[in-house]
Amino acid sequence: MSSLLPIDATASAAATSAATIGAATSTAATSTAPKKKERVVGPTVPCPPAVATAWLILRVAVADVLGLAPACQDCTVSLLQPLWRKPGMAGQAKFSVGLGKKGGRGVVDLQCVDQVFVLEAVQAAANRLIAEQIDIDCWETTPEDLLEIVNATAASTASSATTSKNKNTVAVTLAVLHEHGAAVPPALPYANTNALAAIEILNMARVSVVQTGQRKAELTLMFAVTEQQDATEEKVAAVCVVNGPGPPSSSSTSATTAVRHTPKQCAAWNATKLRAPEGAALLQTAQAHQAAQKEAAAAATTLSAETTTAAAAADDADEMVVTIEDVKGKIDYTKLVEQFGSTLIDDALQQRLYDQTVGQGRVPALHRFLRRGMFFSHRDLDTLLGATEKKTPMYLYTGRGPSSDSMHLGHLIPFLFTKWLQDAFDAPLVIQMTDDEKFIFKGEYEDGAGDNLNHFYNLTMENARDIIACGFDYKKTFIFSDLEYVGQMYPNIVRIWKAVTTNTVTGIFGFDGSSNIGKVAFPAVQAAPSFASSFPKVLEADRDSPRCCLIPCAIDQDPYFRMTRDVAHKLVSKKHVLSGKPSLIHSKFFPPLQGATGKMSSSDANSAIFLTDSPEDIERKIKKHAFSGGQATTEEQRERGADLEVDVSYQWLRFFLEDDDELERIGKEYGSGQGEYWSTGKVKERLIAVLQDLVAAHKERRAKITDEEVRRWMTERSIVT
Ligand code: TRP
Repeated sequence: MSSLLPIDATASAAATSAATIGAATSTAATSTAPKKKERVVGPTVPCPPAVATAWLILRVAVADVLGLAPACQDCTVSLLQPLWRKPGMAGQAKFSVGLGKKGGRGVVDLQCVDQVFVLEAVQAAANRLIAEQIDIDCWETTPEDLLEIVNATAASTASSATTSKNKNTVAVTLAVLHEHGAAVPPALPYANTNALAAIEILNMARVSVVQTGQRKAELTLMFAVTEQQDATEEKVAAVCVVNGPGPPSSSSTSATTAVRHTPKQCAAWNATKLRAPEGAALLQTAQAHQAAQKEAAAAATTLSAETTTAAAAADDADEMVVTIEDVKGKIDYTKLVEQFGSTLIDDALQQRLYDQTVGQGRVPALHRFLRRGMFFSHRDLDTLLGATEKKTPMYLYTGRGPSSDSMHLGHLIPFLFTKWLQDAFDAPLVIQMTDDEKFIFKGEYEDGAGDNLNHFYNLTMENARDIIACGFDYKKTFIFSDLEYVGQMYPNIVRIWKAVTTNTVTGIFGFDGSSNIGKVAFPAVQAAPSFASSFPKVLEADRDSPRCCLIPCAIDQDPYFRMTRDVAHKLVSKKHVLSGKPSLIHSKFFPPLQGATGKMSSSDANSAIFLTDSPEDIERKIKKHAFSGGQATTEEQRERGADLEVDVSYQWLRFFLEDDDELERIGKEYGSGQGEYWSTGKVKERLIAVLQDLVAAHKERRAKITDEEVRRWMTERSIVT
């Protein structure tokens, strides 16, 4: 039976082993791990041999299906948890398999597969072992000899994929279990699988896979055994194996003395992890699931650097890709909101916003971006309004990654809206310039020349000028460069680092082992300004501050704040109305000139109108590049009108033309091919005029802002009154 093991299989001291093996309950010392308490392993109540045998088989099945390395000092012991039985539950029992600290050492990531699949795979593997009539050998041996067996077996199974493989591995696994001090239960009369008909896993009582902060992963299985009715005495007798392949000379080593091997010693055995075909299938399921999840995460949130393939795929199709730096394809905002789990802004919420802003006489009207649904989604805006209604203080937080010298119209959107919010709520505002982020993601280093970190810092100063030119209130606005200000936020950054795992960050942003560690660390830096206590002087706040945060941003920034909101409660006092969570109000993307998909990009000069463009540039770009939803011929246009949805000029007018009546008229006429604005040319003319005015006014304000003035806006000072 065990002759397949490539060692000298001589008979061994059956009697010694039988004593150990036959014990219904027994202790197993864990003498080599001094810190660990002595623990009891083995069946807790007298255990029928069939159950004990099934237990052995299942443990092997679990290890071989999940790819646990059983022959190693720090995980083998975890296979040796007791078997629990209730008196009276004849053929049933429950046991756990430790999967190791911190998420388990298994090859199959249990977080990626449905429990049902795990259950089915383990059950299938166990029943396959039964069907193959695997012999089970129990013997005693010295650690040295065992190691030899283990390594020889691993080597032989690796070199010859024969049918003997399973038998070998099972035998060795059990040998290891036994050797490590497990009291092998009274399986002897059944220790040949042909005495069992089937093992059924009744349920997976618990799979506590390591999640954030959780230390141990464990799989608990409740199972039932059916015995083979026609198991003959003969067969049963034949499998009372205690001697197995262990060298008899060393059998005096007590099986109750646990000796564990170092992972290094067991390397050869451990190298063959997925020993069961069911495990390979399960791994595939897990990997497919993981890939699907990753794809979803990529589509939703991954930074462009990590998603070249996803982005490339989206190039050929019109597929939606919304990542922190990459937005492509036709954006389905309803789907996006669903994917992200935010909430659409409805009429009731608009009305509430109206009451608290326009109703207070601070602004003449809701911003056109709200009226026209450009800011369309939110998180906890309703809760925030409830708080501010009751006079809870709030502040606004937004930011910009300074990546290019000159900002374009798309960059202006959040700031134009934030300026309105500042007026509407009479609120302090902090603006984060993430020069660190841009360097981490796009920075360069050259031997000799060094890196370009300063370049991004300089962009911060340039971009700050454009931001100031949007008309914020100096007394209530603080603009900061991360490179300069990060010290004040550092305590909160450290707290966020502690609260968020690498798994979470890589899951949300799609980083992997090859991402520089700055990428993994940065999300905490963008999260930190969501807490008033990151601004001890500026907002005069500490941890106890009740001040709520509202973040206006494009929806591609949402992942940062999803992460933030998850850990927010750890950074504020219990009394905070939102448990520290920032509220969010999300905008859609500003469409590029070439078509109403994706978002405007600074890298393609023709897709954007820059704030530095001349009136002629503006005219030329729009005439030449603005995608038209108009018809091909005059007759058709007169007859059918333009498709406003895809017409960039019309869409841009929706963003920038303040007058609702005029916009409505343009929409009606252009959409029907009638009246003054019947044609693309006419609409483009109107847009050119609007943008020329806007850009000229912006340039004029910007020109007046000196370096000293920029410095003043970036000086730490109180902005609350
Ligand atoms: N990551 C943003 C960008 O690349 C910049 C940013 C930092 C931001 N903090 C923010 C944007 C808060 C919106 C809100 O542009």
